[in-house]
Amino acid sequence: MEEDLNKDFEISEINDNRQLEEETVQHLNNPVTDLKAIVKQYLTSVKSVKKEGNRFYFSDGEAVVEVRVVSDETIRVRLAPHGVFLADFSYAVEQVDQKVTTFRLQDTPDAYLIETNTITCRVSKADFLISFIDNITGIVTSSDASPMHWEENVEFGGYYVFATKQCHPEENFFGLGDKSGNLNLRGRKFTNWNTDAYSYGWDQDPLYRTIPFYMGINQGETYGIFFDNTFKSYFDFGMEDNAKTSFWADGGELQYYYIHGPHMMDVVKRYQSLTGTHQMPPQWAIGYHQCRWSYYPESKVREIVDGFRSQQIPCDAIYLDIDYMDGYRCFTWNKKYFPDPKKMIKDLANVGMKTVVMIDPGIKVDDNYWVFKEGKEKNYFCRRSDDYFMEGHVWPGRCQFPDFTNPEVREWWGGLYKELVDMGVAGFWNDMNEPAVFGSGTFPNDVRHNYDGYRGSHRKAHNIYGMQMVRSTYEGLKKLQRNKRPFTITRAGYSGMQRYASVWTGDNVATWEHLKIANIQCQRMSISGVPFCGTDIGGFSGEPDGELFTRWIQLGVFSPFMRAHSAGDTREREPWSFGEPFTSVNRKFIELRYKLMPYIYSVFWEHHRYGFPILRPLAMLEQDILSNHFRQDEFTFGDKILVCPVLEQGATSRRIYLPKGKWFNYWTLELLEGGNEYMVDTPLDTMPLFVRAGTVMPEYPVMQYVGEKNIDEVWLNVYYSDYEVNSFMYEDHGDTFAYEQDIYLEKKFSAKGNDSSFTIEQTIDGLYTPNYELYDFRIIALPFNVGKVWVDDKEVSDFVVNERGILRFKSNKNFSKIKIIKG
Ligand code: GLC
Repeated sequence: MEEDLNKDFEISEINDNRQLEEETVQHLNNPVTDLKAIVKQYLTSVKSVKKEGNRFYFSDGEAVVEVRVVSDETIRVRLAPHGVFLADFSYAVEQVDQKVTTFRLQDTPDAYLIETNTITCRVSKADFLISFIDNITGIVTSSDASPMHWEENVEFGGYYVFATKQCHPEENFFGLGDKSGNLNLRGRKFTNWNTDAYSYGWDQDPLYRTIPFYMGINQGETYGIFFDNTFKSYFDFGMEDNAKTSFWADGGELQYYYIHGPHMMDVVKRYQSLTGTHQMPPQWAIGYHQCRWSYYPESKVREIVDGFRSQQIPCDAIYLDIDYMDGYRCFTWNKKYFPDPKKMIKDLANVGMKTVVMIDPGIKVDDNYWVFKEGKEKNYFCRRSDDYFMEGHVWPGRCQFPDFTNPEVREWWGGLYKELVDMGVAGFWNDMNEPAVFGSGTFPNDVRHNYDGYRGSHRKAHNIYGMQMVRSTYEGLKKLQRNKRPFTITRAGYSGMQRYASVWTGDNVATWEHLKIANIQCQRMSISGVPFCGTDIGGFSGEPDGELFTRWIQLGVFSPFMRAHSAGDTREREPWSFGEPFTSVNRKFIELRYKLMPYIYSVFWEHHRYGFPILRPLAMLEQDILSNHFRQDEFTFGDKILVCPVLEQGATSRRIYLPKGKWFNYWTLELLEGGNEYMVDTPLDTMPLFVRAGTVMPEYPVMQYVGEKNIDEVWLNVYYSDYEVNSFMYEDHGDTFAYEQDIYLEKKFSAKGNDSSFTIEQTIDGLYTPNYELYDFRIIALPFNVGKVWVDDKEVSDFVVNERGILRFKSNKNFSKIKIIKG
């Protein structure tokens, strides 16, 4: 063991000079001298153990496994086949160690047990199998089916690394972020290799993003595995062998985090605390956005913006796709199409429309183009193994590509946005960053990357390239915009990308099948740690008819990122392009997004601050009900709204399942008992929505864009419940980072009633002062006639009960307790 740790020391020395690539270092340390090395090798038996702080090193004589107690519920496992660990560096995890209460090592005849407060990691002595056990229930949630193993990679150096776990007959799997098939991953196999997947289909794999994180629900308990490895990786959920779940990668380290639940929500939150949450976006960014490839020239852009304002369809942002640039050169303008962009952007801003522009990674090879010249002079573009620059064709023609894995390059790139920011551009859209190259698809494997000093080939850096591009964008904007929150979107990414950007799901298609994919994809991204996700509403390629577009808008209201987008060769795709009745329904639903803005914004906060996913599938809501592991076409947005999108052409009704509890139909206010299925009517102007009984749901008046009107009253719709329900509302400045200094308000409401009274209590936390003074209450479905209404110790005399039985009255915004008493 001593010797092994010395080796570890040696390698960190080599890493420190940061010249050799990690794969080469592994290779030099263990040159392949005979064929034995090329077959799979397995850990044998545990020969020794050593403890160092919160890390335990188990050795079979040659290979070493590090088990690190990350928190009471999270344990990290790493394998060093010849006792030499790679540098402990991750783009996904910024802070490995979390809160640990206590842990201890027990030496039993058969196994070593590392026990935390909640879980035990068992390392069996005879065969080196590792398993994880819930201390309370004794359930073994995850267990190796064979010892960790590896195979020498003779071509590139390093190892292919493998882990194989047991798969319980009734175990179901979720996560992995960007996949286009069923939500439940059981029985399927996946590859992670960021890919420009134009017009992808159902179950096509791989797609644009790599999130090597999954959850298993095993015997009623959820656990997660985060395989933090940026090489091409693979997951098999009982496909090749029904009793086994495996994951492996083409290189790098076998390193994974075991994250305990027992609820799926716990696992997501813990995964989120490892890889980070999304920052609060500027509030306008959660409004409706209109995009197209491309709106140009300027007169067209103005025409579209006028269209929104004259037709009174709310919209917060308009996008300029690649054609705004001069010959697709990033950070330039086509002056023929946009002679005075600054003025245009200002005029648009005056009517509340924010301008978002596209920036791609491919930089045109052109010595007269300042970005190319600077990048070349500073040696910032990627090179091949033979020292040539990596060149490939993208929109501008022949291009070179910045190495965003170099911190100096990121710093430079972040600064390039200055001129656009100064002009008033409000958001940035990073595309083609898988990276995509015409013809070859992406870079060849031999391209060299800095990888923040831990040098490596494109095999290691491919999946991280897009995330590092948008990171550089985000960090640059954060400096340039000072206190204003950046808004960025990226197409490619890796776990942790949520710290820097929102995402859209790439080039989908205008089909009903794609509407189903969209619905599942956003849920999956949400429980995989990437909450701010949306799809091209209407489908990027192909032509939706009015019905499909409208149904997509309806789903889009409940996609965290709501943007319509379409390819250049398609017909017009604005919310009014399909005529009536579609325009009116589209307007009604986009208005709904704006009405629900304070709720939606609060759900973003719950994510940012506490790590809750924004969209929650039924498997998460009721993981103990097996049939819910297969229900994938409805979800809740936050905790309070159940969304049942209409996904079938011509549907006039659909079957829905209501989770346990009581729910109000949002449209009819009918009260339904959960735990049951129902048939619900779905005329074109309705998408079934249900609100949990007991909810206090804040609403804003309809606005044409965020901030159009001063809010002088916030509506609080309260849905009666005879059991106590807590709701939550968050408020802040909407576009600054003052919330980092607690300049925000978190309001908690709790509501509960009985046959003769109903009470609503409020607690307020934080230092923000909203401009409005009053709440306008609408109390829905009180089971008694109202006699008196008390706001704290004042009786309200001017309450009214309308024809739908809804009680209306106003209160000051700082009330503590409201009591409504039967008359
Ligand atoms: C890619 C993007 C798409 C964009 C197009 C042109 O296909 O995915 O959204 O419109 O490039 O820039």
